Amino acid sequence: MLDIAVIIASPREGGVGTTIGRWFLTQAGRRADLRLDVMELSRTPLPPAQPSLTGDTGQEAAALAARIAAADGFVVITPEYNHAYPACLKLAIDAVRHEWAAKPVGFVSYGGRSGGLRAVEQLRLVFAELHVVSLRETVSFHHTPVLFDAEDRPTGGDGADGAVKIMLDQLIWWATTLKQGRQARPYTP
Ligand SMILES: Cc1cc2nc3c(=O)[nH]c(=O)nc-3n(C[C@H](O)[C@H](O)[C@H](O)COP(=O)(O)O)c2cc1C
Repeated sequence: MLDIAVIIASPREGGVGTTIGRWFLTQAGRRADLRLDVMELSRTPLPPAQPSLTGDTGQEAAALAARIAAADGFVVITPEYNHAYPACLKLAIDAVRHEWAAKPVGFVSYGGRSGGLRAVEQLRLVFAELHVVSLRETVSFHHTPVLFDAEDRPTGGDGADGAVKIMLDQLIWWATTLKQGRQARPYTP
């Protein structure tokens, strides 16, 4: 059994991220080998915008760090705002330190024309600094207003369902392999 933290990075409660999150959780929930911890950042207490350099963290950061430490891998569901990912996601990432290390992250992105892919490219750089392996395969949704029907199915056919299957297969491979690696030899970031 793998523990996966699903980070829904929309800063808006009830925004498109909530719908995409619901769709993703239905897909991932079909995998018997995954236990999901859903972190919707619009409802999660976040630390102040000044990360501690001394390790002297507040209770919001400590709570986030405990959930990241418990995870074997991550899925970040992110919109694109002005060619980047939202500020609340950077706040959450910076609040946690070594707990991220030697684990994989997969991305589900969405936005206008770019489908959030520019946000994902920036996140790859940020996660590399934290010793997180980013998966090549992503799932992206373009032109968010027309993405889902009344039953939360993607209107663009089953392409997204196929893409998320590939991404989850890769996530499970990396999460399993890195979990075994961490158990065999502790990783020192
Ligand atoms: C201030 C702002 C900036 C945006 N910038 C971009 C952008 O650079 N690229 C893009 O593809 N979409 C952009 N969008 C569209 C959002 O990605 C889209 O509306 C998305 O659904 C917002 O996610 P949310 O509903 O979960 O908050 C922007 C939206 C806003 C409000």
